[in-house]
Amino acid sequence: MDFSTRKMNVADYDSALHLWKSLPGMGLSGADERSEIEKFLRKNSETCWVAEKDNRLVGTILGGSDGRRGYIYHLAVQSGLQKIGIGKQLLARCLDAFKKAGIQKCHLLVYHDNTTGIDFWEHAGWVLRKDVLIMSKKLKT
Ligand SMILES: CC(C)(COP(=O)(O)OP(=O)(O)OC[C@H]1O[C@@H](n2cnc3c(N)ncnc32)[C@H](O)[C@@H]1OP(=O)(O)O)[C@@H](O)C(=O)NCCC(=O)NCCS
Repeated sequence: MDFSTRKMNVADYDSALHLWKSLPGMGLSGADERSEIEKFLRKNSETCWVAEKDNRLVGTILGGSDGRRGYIYHLAVQSGLQKIGIGKQLLARCLDAFKKAGIQKCHLLVYHDNTTGIDFWEHAGWVLRKDVLIMSKKLKT
């Protein structure tokens, strides 16, 4: 099935949010408001991509980096168009851009109960870490 990929821009926001809300396993928060995503895209213009089919957005990946490690968020493919290679291609675009920027390792967060997501990542060669936990602190209440 035909689809294309290109870098994401802020004009994609409404379609991307609609996609994210339609899928289980996506953790959405205040960090996904338009202004926050716009800021993220400005800082990470090479590593955020969308997939399109028939001129409609059907997939996203947000890659962000602190200059040392890459972090992947919101890899999402429209239900009904999954399992045809869109997620794999989005991931490849993002990882290629990280490699070009000299990033040597990437991390991502995935919910415990997102077995589909975990299986996808393991199939793609990612390792589920048992030696680290994530700790968080809110800076804005
Ligand atoms: C996870 C997700 C992005 C995968 O996208 P996709 O377009 O269906 O994946 P692809 O078709 O590109 O699959 C790439 C490869 O992974 C395999 N694969 C896809 N989903 C898989 C799964 N759930 N379990 C195991 N393997 C899987 C495919 O068979 C393919 O294998 P191959 O390269 O050997 O041929 C998609 O299922 C999705 O949007 N899920 C909901 C959102 C989500 O959970 N995102 C991850 C948040 S951490």
